[in-house]
Amino acid sequence: MYRTKTCGELRLSDAGKEVTLAGWVQRIRKMGALTFVDLRDRYGITQLVFNQNENKSLFDAAGALGREYVIQARGKVMERSNKNAHLDTGDIEINVTGLTVLNKSEIPPFTIEDDTDGGDDLRMKYRYLDLRRPCVRRNLELRHRMCIAIRQFLDSKGFLEIETPVLVGSTPEGARDFVVPSRMNPGQFYALPQSPQTLKQLLMVAGMDRYFQIVKCFRDEDLRADRQPEFTQIDCEMSFVEQDDIICLFEEMAKYLFKNVRGYDLGPEPFLRMPWIEAMSRFGSDKPDMRFGMEICEMTDLLKGSGTAAFLNEAAYIGAICVKGCASYTRKQLDALTDFVKSPQIGAGGLIYIKVNADGSRKSSVDKFYPEAVIQSVIERAKAEQGDLILLMSGSDAMKVRKQLGTLRLEMADRLNLRDKNKFALLWVVDFPMFEWSDEENRLLAMHHPFTMPKPEDIPLLDTAPEKVRANAYDMVCNGVEVGGGSIRIHDSELQAKIFKVLGFTAERAQQQFGFLMNAFKYGAPPHGGLAYGLDRWVSLFAGLDSIRDCIAFPKNNSGRDVMLDAPAQLEQKQLDELHIAVVPDK
Ligand code: AMO
Repeated sequence: MYRTKTCGELRLSDAGKEVTLAGWVQRIRKMGALTFVDLRDRYGITQLVFNQNENKSLFDAAGALGREYVIQARGKVMERSNKNAHLDTGDIEINVTGLTVLNKSEIPPFTIEDDTDGGDDLRMKYRYLDLRRPCVRRNLELRHRMCIAIRQFLDSKGFLEIETPVLVGSTPEGARDFVVPSRMNPGQFYALPQSPQTLKQLLMVAGMDRYFQIVKCFRDEDLRADRQPEFTQIDCEMSFVEQDDIICLFEEMAKYLFKNVRGYDLGPEPFLRMPWIEAMSRFGSDKPDMRFGMEICEMTDLLKGSGTAAFLNEAAYIGAICVKGCASYTRKQLDALTDFVKSPQIGAGGLIYIKVNADGSRKSSVDKFYPEAVIQSVIERAKAEQGDLILLMSGSDAMKVRKQLGTLRLEMADRLNLRDKNKFALLWVVDFPMFEWSDEENRLLAMHHPFTMPKPEDIPLLDTAPEKVRANAYDMVCNGVEVGGGSIRIHDSELQAKIFKVLGFTAERAQQQFGFLMNAFKYGAPPHGGLAYGLDRWVSLFAGLDSIRDCIAFPKNNSGRDVMLDAPAQLEQKQLDELHIAVVPDK
């Protein structure tokens, strides 16, 4: 037996017991005739003591240990005179009577402690060392508990866990595909699934009734803090359901996970359901952070045409947010905010401010263009009180300005510490538009995906005004993060063909790409719908992380690289030849 106990389990009640522990040397402290070694494993840290006066050769052996050596130590559990309240095992120590070095270690490139000296790149290169740090390990433990709870919940609701293939054809979820060449079919490629969307729909045609899978998805898209090129979905699909059935069930699941994994009671109230158009108007976002107010107020009717500011008179939309307690912002701070809204991240033309000073006076960047009464009406609508700062933006594209205000709203909330990570605000955003216009592709794109059912009352608009058609689609949002999304699906091959037509697919191309699905729908497809939660996003919300990377064992960096494995990498010519692939040098 390598060990009789772990490094996390001994307590004062174990005093006097003979034990054997195994683990890594975290730290060595030499204090005269005593050497203390902190021994670490997955379960905790236990202090070992080597006493020169009791056993000189053991004491010398301890002195020769290095950080991250793997050792086995035998000895007696003793009560500590100097207890450490920060450690679970802090009441005891092991008086060592036997020591075996199981493996030596080179000096690690950074300290293996929660508060490490290692930078991001270095830690990712040596991720297996980074994962030894308790704070990172805890995230993986949380992820594990989350997966167990998910399986328990979905099993209790009759869902079957079914695996779907990873080598598939293209699945349209709006990103680029990762592709895999086929050696046996020269010149042909598999695509890795952006999600198992079409396959789970086929499982419904197959009569599986309730499906789920904790599954890797692959999307070649620009990366952000909450996006990885390969990420994990809790993918679900149900037959014979309406939107309300799905929303209720997955709301119950959210409450179950919050309670059982995070220890947070979301209460009995149903989550708010907010139409997409309302979320955009009030918060400038389809994933509003509802932990704080600072809602967007439209000011177009008050300011357009009532003063001499030409740029506002020409604007199609003018909106504002009221930032509490920020009237004391200096000229310099306001200039910096203006630079921020003009940065490529937001891309606004500029920023107007109205300060309602604490002494009752007011100052605005557009004072000279407006009568006092107009400024007063803006202040009233924004519900600004003494000490508040109103920030306004305008432009020719109302939706664009709303989104810019939405980004500014989040920035100001960050500055005011309004985004408390221990507080959770969940809601459903519903009634998404079915399509959105793409300037790049010069056609309508599916906002969710092409298999989404339009609202029945909007179906006649498919011929006349497709941009006005709303979808039976819903997203779950938590603290400004889209944690899940889904829809009721089309189960009628004729309606599906029509949607492909609106999306600009020729009948041949639709048949070529999605014939398998449309054909399946001819054989008795049940009404069905579903949802996919983003597992990485859930875990990082529960753990209070800034990036989903920290809850993934081996994540990619912002350029999509695995710096530990040094992937992606070039292939040998022989391998390329087998695959009939010629690499064209980058121009
Ligand atoms: P959607 O594309 O909305 O829907 O994805 C579902 C959820 O997956 C998470 N997610 C991501 N997480 C990390 N990195 C990414 N790159 C990433 N992309 C998405 C989000 C999101 O809400 N097939 C549909 C679901 C359905 O209709 O049933 C789908 O994939 O949390």
